[in-house]
Amino acid sequence: MTITNLPPSLIPTLSGEYYTDPEVFAQEQERVFEAMWFCVARAAELDKPGAFRTYQVGRESVLISRSRDGSVKGFLNICRHRGAKLCTEESGEVKRAFQCPYHAWTYGLDGKLVAAPNLTSMPDIDRKEYGLINVHVREWLGYVWVCLADEPPSFEADVQGAIVERLGDLESIERYGIDDLKLGRRITYDVKANWKLIIENFMECYHCATIHPELTEVLPDVGHGAEFGEDVQGFTVDGSEGLDRIPGVADDQDRRYYAITVRPQVFINLVPDHVIFHRMYPMAPDRTVVECDWLYLPHVVESGKDVDRSVELFHRVNQQDFDACERTQPAMSSKAYAKGGVLVPSEHHIGEFHTWLQNKLEVRPTH
Ligand code: FES
Ligand code: FE
Repeated sequence: MTITNLPPSLIPTLSGEYYTDPEVFAQEQERVFEAMWFCVARAAELDKPGAFRTYQVGRESVLISRSRDGSVKGFLNICRHRGAKLCTEESGEVKRAFQCPYHAWTYGLDGKLVAAPNLTSMPDIDRKEYGLINVHVREWLGYVWVCLADEPPSFEADVQGAIVERLGDLESIERYGIDDLKLGRRITYDVKANWKLIIENFMECYHCATIHPELTEVLPDVGHGAEFGEDVQGFTVDGSEGLDRIPGVADDQDRRYYAITVRPQVFINLVPDHVIFHRMYPMAPDRTVVECDWLYLPHVVESGKDVDRSVELFHRVNQQDFDACERTQPAMSSKAYAKGGVLVPSEHHIGEFHTWLQNKLEVRPTH
C-alpha cells in the first residue's frame, strides 16, 4: 500500500517495508542479484594464475580467479564433496590449485577435481562432474561481471544498453579507455542501509545542494553532463588542477561530469582525468558494502603523482551520500513511512526504478 490521492506532480515511493523486510530482500537476492549481470573484481587485480577473490552475490559465495590460460573463471565457492566453503578468505593467491580446508579435495584453476585423499579408491569418480560449478563470466571496462543464472540475460542489452541509454552510444564511454586505466585508490564503505536507498540516492541530484558543498563548488549546476564552474581547474576537492586528461576524451566531454547507473549495482562517474567506478554488494536488508575505485592513466599512477585532492572530492561525496542513507534507513521501519513517501518531479526516474524492481519481485508486501 502506498500513499494515495497525491497531486499529479508527485508520485509515491515504495513503502518502508521494501527496505526492511527479509522476504523482499530474499526475493531481490534470487531475482535480481543472482539473475542479472553483477560486477565484481577489477580484472587487473587478478594479476597472475591462481590470484583469486571471493564475493557474495545474492545468497551465494562466488570465487573469481585467474586461470593458467590467462582467462578469468568464476565458480560457486562450494566444495562438491560435502559442501564446505572452499576459499574462506576474501582474496589471495594459490599456487596450483584450490584445496578444501575440510577433507582436502583439490581443484585445479580450471575448476576440475584434481586430487582427493584416497582418490584411487574411487576410480569411477568423474573429475569434471565433481569439479566446481561454473558461473558465467564477462570482462568489460576492465571489470569482471558474473551471472549466476543458467541462461544469463543479454549483456549487451542489460549492461551496455544502460550506458547507451545514458550517453547516447557506447563510443562515449569507450573513449575513456577504462580497460587500460589503472587503480589509483580503492575505498570500501560498509553502509548500514538497504541497497535501494543507495541507488535511489545516486539517481537523483535533488540532495546535491544540501549535502555536497564541495561538489557544487566544482559543478555549479551539478547533475549528469554538468560542466565545471568557470574558475574550476579540475575535478578535485578544492577545484585545483587535476591529473593528466585521458587522451580519448572528446572536446565536448572535456570539463564535464557524467553519472551512469547500471542496474542493479554499478555506478560510474566520468570526468576528464579519471573514472570513478562503484560496485554495491547487498549483504542484508540493512547493510550494503560499496567498493569504489578511482582509475587514472597508468603513467599517473606509476609516477606516484599525488591523487589525494582528486580522490578526496568524491570520497567526501560518498561519505555525505552514505551518511544520508544511514540516516534514512532506521526511518524505513517507522510508522511515519509505513505507506512510503513521495517523489518530486525531478526524481521521477526513481519511480521507474521502483516499477522495474516491483516487476521482478514475486512477493509484493502489503500492510
Ligand atoms: Fe570439501 Fe570435504 S567438504 S573436502
Ligand atoms: Fe550525492
